[in-house]
Amino acid sequence: MELKQQKLLLVLILTLLFATATPDSEYVRPLPRKTLTTIPWDSISKAHSSYPQQVHISLAGDKHMRVTWITDDKHSPSYVEYGTLPGRYDSIAEGECTSYNYLLYSSGKIHHAVIGPLEDNTAYFYRCGGKGAEFELKTPPAQFPITFAVAGDLGQTGWTKSTLAHIDQCKYDVYLLPGDLSYADCMQHLWDNFGKLVEPFASTRPWMVTEGNHEEENILLLTDEFVSYNSRWKMPFEESGSTSNLYYSFEVAGVHVIMLGSYADYDVYSEQYRWLKEDLSKVDRKRTPWLLVLFHVPWYNSNKAHQGAGDDMMAAMEPLLYAASVDLVIAGHVHAYERSKRLYNGRLDPCGAVHITIGDGGNREGLAHKYINPQPKWSEFREASFGHGELKIVNSTHAFWSWHRNDDDEPVKADDIWITSLVSSRCVDQKTHELRSTLLTP
Ligand SMILES: *[C@@H]1O[C@H](CO)[C@@H](O)[C@H](O)[C@H]1NC(C)=O
Repeated sequence: MELKQQKLLLVLILTLLFATATPDSEYVRPLPRKTLTTIPWDSISKAHSSYPQQVHISLAGDKHMRVTWITDDKHSPSYVEYGTLPGRYDSIAEGECTSYNYLLYSSGKIHHAVIGPLEDNTAYFYRCGGKGAEFELKTPPAQFPITFAVAGDLGQTGWTKSTLAHIDQCKYDVYLLPGDLSYADCMQHLWDNFGKLVEPFASTRPWMVTEGNHEEENILLLTDEFVSYNSRWKMPFEESGSTSNLYYSFEVAGVHVIMLGSYADYDVYSEQYRWLKEDLSKVDRKRTPWLLVLFHVPWYNSNKAHQGAGDDMMAAMEPLLYAASVDLVIAGHVHAYERSKRLYNGRLDPCGAVHITIGDGGNREGLAHKYINPQPKWSEFREASFGHGELKIVNSTHAFWSWHRNDDDEPVKADDIWITSLVSSRCVDQKTHELRSTLLTP
């Protein structure tokens, strides 16, 4: 065989290997198999292929929004026309484009254009590349209240569809996704499939995501890691002073949200750690009384799945988050829901964070049913069901968290709690000096 043929064969074998590998033997599959199957390509409506597709939006700095879409046509322009009236666009923003190759797959032309400045809490109508359908988005409010929808490990199954439908029923401003989006797992056309599946939702409200293990798609020596994720799901890392799309921050309506990367270096000498300190030094709790952190692999988890997987990152970063009085930490990875009491360093602590694991969006691997017993003191609620969370931040002191399970046709609210901010409990004031000295230590 010639060298080229040998390489092709290797690629084929590796692709098959990855496609058939079952990622986690601990998962049981109690649900009808049908619903865990990835929704097939042709069940998702295909617009004319030269038209913009897979449209989604994300926050991109103060009063700006990034619009992302894909065209098969390599000559399609990268601008967005927009305005506050349907069909009448009085503004236009020129963007940039990229594309990538992955083994034998070549992506379409991926466009990113930042629009703004935009009015707060306002509907905008927009069209991508001068062609195709008109989309409508709503910008988030400038002040409380603000509502976040939350679900990680989303996938593209029947459960994903019901999760998204339930999220759509709630009035939310921003969707937060703590990692594991498409479960394409190296099958690149499944990223396109996913883009089409989520477009009706992700084109109307900003989707803020961070990476999970299923985004890595690294085949040794053959592919770059996160190439598809970084090309398709560009987040405001430049806007927040980060050098990597794998971690960034943003502010919206009195909330500072930090999206960390469980799959970027996080030790105290890492670039991510350095950036985190810098980002925390910019947080002004008068402007943003609430401080949220998201990443993929949970630090507090009493499920048997992925036990201890977050320990190293926790050892490196928890003291910093504690000194900064982070209110809420949200993770995914474990395919179940769990909510903790406020804690730090394994012990209940009124100035620690509430930890939520919500890797229950609806992926094809199924649920994680086995728990460690007895339930640890810090764990307040845990259940292995698909579902989503809603975080309504009412004002600077109060937020209402609820978790809605999916098993039924209706989104049943299964867990809810009022959370009071650390600003209101004086933890922030007490630790101002501690935080300053932590941040100043090189
Ligand atoms: C914040 O909202 C809570 C819950 O609605 C309410 O009890 C509290 O008085 C509000 N605080 C302020 C400062 O408005």
